[in-house]
Amino acid sequence: MIHGIGIDAVEVPRFKRAMDRWGERLTSRLFTGPELAYSLRLRRPERHLAARFAAKVSFFKALGRPVPWRDVEVVRASSGAPALSVKGLSDGMRVSVSISHDGDLSIAETIIERDS
Ligand SMILES: CC(C)(COP(=O)(O)OP(=O)(O)OC[C@H]1O[C@@H](n2cnc3c(N)ncnc32)[C@H](O)[C@@H]1OP(=O)(O)O)[C@@H](O)C(=O)NCCC(=O)NCCS
Repeated sequence: MIHGIGIDAVEVPRFKRAMDRWGERLTSRLFTGPELAYSLRLRRPERHLAARFAAKVSFFKALGRPVPWRDVEVVRASSGAPALSVKGLSDGMRVSVSISHDGDLSIAETIIERDS
């Protein structure tokens, strides 16, 4: 059965302003090493980091409560498809995520299913 769904949209220029203002203090609190490594090698890192921020918030909404930012990591299949790796996820819960970018907006949606 579905435990919950969550969606979040992030305005990329606004996220970039926060990154410029707070620098590594912000990014190291929000993101894991592999998330930073993936995003920082792309042409517009702020876009991919904004999407990863949206993915984490969408997960919190689907779960019904927040967890520490870096306990939720966006990982990638070889196809490029994203998935969430979540520290301490309850047994029987399965998480699916989807990410999209267009213009100045990055969006993510998460669905959590559970056995009963
Ligand atoms: C996957 C694909 C549809 C992305 O579409 P797009 O409109 O160019 O890009 P969007 O901005 O909407 O989405 C980008 C995000 O899609 C996700 N993504 C990438 N490949 C994906 C895939 N194979 N399946 C699902 N999601 C994928 C990523 O999270 C990416 O963001 P990120 O780089 O920040 O992680 C496009 O790259 C494509 O057609 N790839 C080849 C075919 C394919 O693998 N299709 C499977 C999905 S139908």
